[in-house]
Order: sequence, then C-alpha cells, then structure tokens
Amino acid sequence: MSNPIQVFNEERKQRIENNGSNESLKAAAKEFNTASNIAHYSYNFSWMGRPIIQYPQDMLAMQELIWEIKPDLIIETGIAHGGSLIYYASLMELIGHGKVVGIDIDIREHNRKEIESHPMFKRIQMISGSSIDQQIVEEVVKLAEGKTKIMVCLDSNHTHDHVLRELQLYAPFVTPDSYLIVFDTIVEHLPEGYLGQQRPWGVANNPQTAVEEFLKTNDQFKVDNSIDNKLLISVAPGGYLKRIK
Ligand SMILES: C[S@@+](CC[C@H](N)C(=O)[O-])C[C@H]1O[C@@H](n2cnc3c(N)ncnc32)[C@H](O)[C@@H]1O
Repeated sequence: MSNPIQVFNEERKQRIENNGSNESLKAAAKEFNTASNIAHYSYNFSWMGRPIIQYPQDMLAMQELIWEIKPDLIIETGIAHGGSLIYYASLMELIGHGKVVGIDIDIREHNRKEIESHPMFKRIQMISGSSIDQQIVEEVVKLAEGKTKIMVCLDSNHTHDHVLRELQLYAPFVTPDSYLIVFDTIVEHLPEGYLGQQRPWGVANNPQTAVEEFLKTNDQFKVDNSIDNKLLISVAPGGYLKRIK
C-alpha cells in the first residue's frame, strides 16, 4: 500500500482498534468519565454562543458523521438551550444543505428567543411537545417526506421506557448507512445518584438498557464500536447505532 492517504487511514483504523483492548487507557478514560460526569462537565461548553450540554469528543464524532453522511435532515429529541441544534445546523450551513428539527416538551421562552434570533435558525425548526406523542411524530413524518438521508439523535428524557419508545418511533426515520445516536448511555456505568439531584433514570433504567432491549428485536441497527474505541471519553458509549439494512 503506497497511497499515503490510505496508509494514514489504515494506521488510524488499527490504532483505534487497539484502543478497544488497551486496558490502561480504558481505565483512565473510565476514571475521567466518572469524575467528570459527577462534576457536571457537560454543562461547561457553548457552540456559537448557545450552551451545548455535551462532551466535546461526542461532538467531534458527530461532525465526522455529518460530514460523511451529509444528511438532508437531522431529527433531535431534547433541545434545552439549543446548543446542539445550532451545532448541527452550523455544520449543515458549511456543507450547504440540510435542516435540523428539534423536539422538546419544555422550550423555555428565553431559550426560544435566543434560538430564533440566531443566524443558524434558518436551518432549524422546533416542535414543542413530548417526543413520544403520536401527534408530534406525525409532524416529524411530514417534515421527513422526500428526504433521502436522515440522522436521528435521542437526548430527551433518559428513562428506559421513554428511550425505548423513542427508539421504536424514530428508528424508522433513519436511512440506510446513516446513524441513530442515543445519548447518555453512560448513566449505566456511573454511580447511582451521580448528579446529586433526583432523576427518574439511573443504573438499570436508562438509554443503555433501552438500546439493549431495542437491539434484541431489531437487526437493522448495529452498535458502531469503532466510534466508542476512538472516543473513549463519551456520554454515549454503545449509543452510536448504524443502520446496516
Ligand atoms: C439533556 S437536555 C438536551 C440537551 C441538548 N440536546 C444539548 O445537547 O444541548 C434534555 C431536554 O429534553 C427535554 N425533554 C424531557 N422530556 C422530554 C420529552 N418527553 N419529550 C421531548 N423533550 C423532553 C427537556 O425539556 C430538556 O430540555
């Protein structure tokens, strides 16, 4: 193999694969994942002025996927301050096409105002309501009509039942070779009550357990472990699902 691009890519692929069995690296990452989640690290960042409740590593992986897939629609459940919607919209703006639809049960007025006046709003549509409400899903069906490449990100209520229902409702939107990303699977690996606040989700009741149940009866999706091995530091281990058929 003499093509230098191919050589670089092959070396990287091999390195990432090796990370998957590098126990000391994985232990260091686990220690950071645990301590940083307890310290609410994901709340420390903004994208183009809006708070984005994410880990930078996950967002770099999202950038790689969006560039590779070039979706004409991204559907995201869970808007909060709008940082992730604006991040995905800004990448689509650079690519030159695509829209993002965000769904949230509680779009706070101050957040709505900031998102609607943001320069990236031209590529964003927000829907107010619960992601698992049939009427909301019907609105999304209309927006997805005629779209050929669709990605889905689930980042709303993180209980097992809610995420499982979202997986059932939103997985069919994902087009072949595209991705369904389930955030906060990390909850399964964190100490119970790690946020120091009452949450309805926890160990054995979270996005990871929902993904496991979903995959028992769905062979269209496969966990892309190469993304986990690349990132190591992530709130979505085992949550990058590729639609393989
Ligand atoms: C973790 S935040 C989203 C963070 C955002 N994606 C980001 O990266 O900055 C979770 C959001 O989910 C919303 N949410 C909770 N239950 C929901 C539901 N049933 N349907 C839609 N959104 C919901 C909350 O209101 C909250 O804004």
